[in-house]
Amino acid sequence: MKKLFLLLVSIGYLSSSAQTIRIDTKNTSLIFKVGNNKRLYQSYLGVKLELDNYPDVRTEAYAAAGMNFEFEPAIRMVHADGNPSLELKYLKDVVKTHVDGSLQTDIFLKDEVYQTEVTLHFQSYPDQDLIKTWADIKNNEKKEVVLTNFASAMLHFNAEKYWLTQFHGDWAKEMQMDEQELTSGMKVIDSKLGVRANKYRHPHFFITLGSRPATENQGELLAGTLAYTGNFRLNFEIDQVNTLHAAFGINGYASEYYLKPNESFTTPEFIFTYSHNGKGTASRNLHDWARKFGVMDGQKPRLTLLNNWEATGMKFDQAQLTNLFQETKKLGVDMFLLDDGWFGDKYPRDNDRTSLGDWMVDKKKLPDGISYLVKSAKAKDVKFGIWLEPEMVSPKSELYEKHPEWVLKLPNRSEHLQRNQLVLDLTNPKVQDYIYSIVDKLFAENPSIAYIKWDCNRTMTNEYSGFLKHQSHLYIDYTKGLYDVLKRIRSKYPHIPFMLCSGGGGRVDYGALKYFTEFWPSDNTDGLERVYIQWGYSYFFPANTISAHVTSWGKQSLKFRTDVAMSGKLGYDINVAEFTKDELAFSQQAVRNYKNLSVVIQQGNLYRLVSPYQSNRAVLMYADSSKSNAVLFAYNLNSRYRTYYDLVKLEGLDPQKKYKLTEINLMPNAKSQLSYNDKIYTGEYLMNIGIEVNKKYPEPLTSVVLEIKMIN
Ligand code: DGJ
Repeated sequence: MKKLFLLLVSIGYLSSSAQTIRIDTKNTSLIFKVGNNKRLYQSYLGVKLELDNYPDVRTEAYAAAGMNFEFEPAIRMVHADGNPSLELKYLKDVVKTHVDGSLQTDIFLKDEVYQTEVTLHFQSYPDQDLIKTWADIKNNEKKEVVLTNFASAMLHFNAEKYWLTQFHGDWAKEMQMDEQELTSGMKVIDSKLGVRANKYRHPHFFITLGSRPATENQGELLAGTLAYTGNFRLNFEIDQVNTLHAAFGINGYASEYYLKPNESFTTPEFIFTYSHNGKGTASRNLHDWARKFGVMDGQKPRLTLLNNWEATGMKFDQAQLTNLFQETKKLGVDMFLLDDGWFGDKYPRDNDRTSLGDWMVDKKKLPDGISYLVKSAKAKDVKFGIWLEPEMVSPKSELYEKHPEWVLKLPNRSEHLQRNQLVLDLTNPKVQDYIYSIVDKLFAENPSIAYIKWDCNRTMTNEYSGFLKHQSHLYIDYTKGLYDVLKRIRSKYPHIPFMLCSGGGGRVDYGALKYFTEFWPSDNTDGLERVYIQWGYSYFFPANTISAHVTSWGKQSLKFRTDVAMSGKLGYDINVAEFTKDELAFSQQAVRNYKNLSVVIQQGNLYRLVSPYQSNRAVLMYADSSKSNAVLFAYNLNSRYRTYYDLVKLEGLDPQKKYKLTEINLMPNAKSQLSYNDKIYTGEYLMNIGIEVNKKYPEPLTSVVLEIKMIN
């Protein structure tokens, strides 16, 4: 970037007195200039500039369709008279400081002919090197206008090459990482699924600028994520002179949005951080921001738990659950989480073909109701949490019989079921009230419910709202309706931990995480698969949001599966009663270890040391910001016969200080086979020479957890 800047200086592109707007963080500058034509141009994005010489005109900051921008626009509006163009001219910019230390710059633009106003907001978090940006679009005409493109942000880049790291997958294989060089033309990553919008693709990415892809510690890149829970679209378009134009926002697919006179459209937030030393820094910036500003109660401790889904499915009764409270206590975790299958009166929920929408307790399974469960959990000294899937309805339910008009479904077409269920019409305020009342009633009747798992198990297909005037508003108004409900719930119940779940990780984004404390990354809890899935999420989300449960999926040892789960937010979803004596003792100790280490795991800085995408093993560590406590997780994946692994250099420690290394999470009576166990090394040694991490020639699917403690 600096090179390009110098080049532009040397060929005389420097502007004279054009007005400049700077958005700075500790290490990044985003600079705009107002052209002689009063339009706003992106002048620079990259490593922070100290001097006030900036390149002149590059590309219009928020390029509009219909005038002279020849590529995918940030915005397209058709005016009341049918004119499909916008010419946005700079009016003013206003800077304000928020109490949380962030700085907000609002740039006001206006079409002088049609009076449309667009305000670009940039909120910068200096210490996290992070910028959050969104736009407000206001119709000042006397009649309705229509928007077809409405990006949250547009950014332009000039580099020799561009490498896109994207994340995609499916149910049970979320956040698989792929990296490729972008070439001329357009690459689009999007979702048209409406709800469970990330089932196939995720709205998080890296763009590396330079001759080769970035590594953990090298390379100039932008990490971006769209804070939106509905259809999204990320565009990357390289033009004829190798400039990359990128735009991020709500997907315009089937979503023309009509704005009445005086109405505004607010886009979701696009969040990005710029790193000039690799992906590790970018992730740490995002994690720090997320915990402090982005995620509900991001700096508060999280509850460990025992969930019953994998162990019982929907087949349970009151006595069984009461026994499970006992198991919860025995294991040493904080809470029991009751999953799907507890509700339905006329149609009891014994399988997934009925009952969604009927959120009254199934008296056959649970004759004394939820309050009895809450009380008996309390008597065993464990907290109680409960599963809901409030946005959905089963055709076989009392709700559907009573309110068929509340269901999204096409007239004159057959219903298309997924998991035997349909989506409720959250664009309708009555449906929003109903969903709010489900949660409100549950808490009113059981004030000590300590946790909600909020699930969402289908995408939108064959959708049609009987409530909406414009069907093209459905996707957008649905998501807005969902946020309105969540806002209402949170204003009454601000601090109860909620898990964001969508048939696994079908819905993981910072738009929803404003209301949720954590998310369910995947139904796939096989230890080997989870190494990759959690690795993928770790690029954008801190460990305290990544729920990781020990289950009986996967053929690896209990130790391996536990060690994998411990690198996230630990929980269990397994039949504890079937543990052998040793397995139980091991697990009880693992829970104690996790509790001791939870501050460093959940709040510490993450260092990804060896990637499973590049090696037959994965190694990562967390270190607290005082560099006194750290923990390392090493997973041998498909290690082959006599595979020799290089020494691993640790990170995040103080070179001048000494550290004691202790292997933890050993099975009862097992002795550590690591040469450095219980020994003391300097930070300098650990970070420059490194350690073997595993024993020599480790077997596949084995693991090591190492506690690293500064000593005086
Ligand atoms: C999908 C979730 O991902 C699972 O954890 C479980 O809650 C089931 N739904 C219950 O139906």
